[in-house]
Amino acid sequence: MYHHVLESRLCAAVAAVVPSVDPAILQVQPASEARFGDYQSNSLMLVAKAARLNPRQLAADVVARLEVSDCCGPVEIAGPGFLNFRLTPRALAGWVEEAASGRADLVPRSGSPRTVVLDFSSPNVAKPMHVGHIRSTGIGDALQRLWRLLGHRVISDNHIGDWGTQFGKLLVGWKELLDRPALERDPIAEMERLYKAVNTQCDADPARLEAARQELVRLQAGDPENLAIWREMIRLSQVQFDTLYGRLGVRFDHTLGESFYNPGLGRVVDELLAAGIARTSDGAVAVFSDRTMPPKEDPFLVSRDGEWVDVPALIRKSDGGFNYMTTDLATVDHRLRTWAPDEILYVVDDRQSGHFRALFHVFARWQPEACRKTRLRHIGFGKILGDDGKPFKTRSGDTVRLADVLDEAEERALQVVTGKRPDLPEAERREIARIVGIGAVKWQDLLPNRQSDYVFSWDKMLALQGNTAPYVQYQYTRAAKVVRDAGEGSGAVPEVVLNEPAELALARHLMNLGYTLEAAAQECRPNYLCNYLHELAGLYSAFYEACPVLKASEPARSTRLALCRLSARVLRLGLETLGIEVTEKM
Ligand code: ARG
Repeated sequence: MYHHVLESRLCAAVAAVVPSVDPAILQVQPASEARFGDYQSNSLMLVAKAARLNPRQLAADVVARLEVSDCCGPVEIAGPGFLNFRLTPRALAGWVEEAASGRADLVPRSGSPRTVVLDFSSPNVAKPMHVGHIRSTGIGDALQRLWRLLGHRVISDNHIGDWGTQFGKLLVGWKELLDRPALERDPIAEMERLYKAVNTQCDADPARLEAARQELVRLQAGDPENLAIWREMIRLSQVQFDTLYGRLGVRFDHTLGESFYNPGLGRVVDELLAAGIARTSDGAVAVFSDRTMPPKEDPFLVSRDGEWVDVPALIRKSDGGFNYMTTDLATVDHRLRTWAPDEILYVVDDRQSGHFRALFHVFARWQPEACRKTRLRHIGFGKILGDDGKPFKTRSGDTVRLADVLDEAEERALQVVTGKRPDLPEAERREIARIVGIGAVKWQDLLPNRQSDYVFSWDKMLALQGNTAPYVQYQYTRAAKVVRDAGEGSGAVPEVVLNEPAELALARHLMNLGYTLEAAAQECRPNYLCNYLHELAGLYSAFYEACPVLKASEPARSTRLALCRLSARVLRLGLETLGIEVTEKM
């Protein structure tokens, strides 16, 4: 992990020249282009600016004190003060030896582990999980794996929507329209049907709406019959959620749904009222702007006809019911008191960004001290689109169920696998198709910058060439097969000598795994890892075409075998960190 080695050497040199500098701003990263060498640092310009020094002069002074001759050639100063580092072939080969033999860690464990609460997936009870849920579920799971891999303490919590006004309508439907056999066949579909039926009735008939309201009030007051039905609805939904989580390989440490916070909501409102943060308005309780921010950034104001008008955050409705915001405030409070996290990450659709900005702001006013210790972050993402550029729907215009997407992915992957490997028995082809199909759906979702929308495409995601899971999984099988065929234990790695350009390029890229993992975790961007792995798969493939392994003579044979071993390990580790399985045959 030379970026850390070079970083600490850089710190020492800079400290000798500018003792006041904050070492945190000194960074070394993989070079953006091969012509700049292996690593670069852009930090000296910042140092020079802060210390009012000439950046090129500073760079020259720092380079004069920089001790890197054990691993690098002369350090180059470029442009206004960039530093370019070139590893010696010996240093690179030494790293390959160490890493391939298992003596060096591939993954940097954080020296200062953080406690991170991850709020993701969070579907609503009595509604099917649709294709959009792959986003929060997949990104959240990749982040939980990534942060854990780096040695952080992660607490994942599925904040399911198991409370709220929808249960009024659901209860009316359950009591009057329930089709038992249908419920047994497909509980979520039946509950969805009940909800939709009553919802339509309510639109036309105020009496139905009133009936739903009554049922909700009874539920909230603890009526045993309504509570029992509500619990049954949650149980049935959870069974289907768990089936999907099982297929996706996603696990949560906790599933504390919205209802868990119910008993504490009154206290939240009372405290906010008492602190003068909330006030009563038309019988409801709401938090208004405190006018401390520029109106443009203020989540409690919108511009209408050239004027800034209030959009308060409601925390208690005039009928006494509580809001999504109230529950989320109680949730932050509970998480802080239970786990004292350094960060809480919310992996939720960008359409809720206003909600989270308001939430974080209200919470900071309520508990300013706690907010200095805990960073609240909304990790937003865009939409999944169909070919027509509109949100992805079925032909008949319904939302696409996640279960159907996974079924179809496996089915289509089976065609691909059967085309490639008709020799394999069906059960084996099906297992490979499961791994490839689910992997393809996840990869397609993790690959774009998470805030961008992307177009759902079966053909693209399942292509064996391109930036896809099947391509990367396939390169893994090739590397793993060479290692198996070599038939040696994972033991000693004789001397590594890198000569061929394809060997050097592969080795350099392998070394950047650690940097990529850290950057992906820091910015909560699994796409960094996707792109890294795709590039690795391409470099491995080029190396595989150009350099025979088992038939080569020494030291090329051991060198190349070490590169295969490392490539297989990194491809597998990387895919698994994204929640994607590998297969040995494809
Ligand atoms: N259940 C919510 C929805 O489907 C998402 C919850 C996200 N998490 C949170 N703490 N608000 O929109």
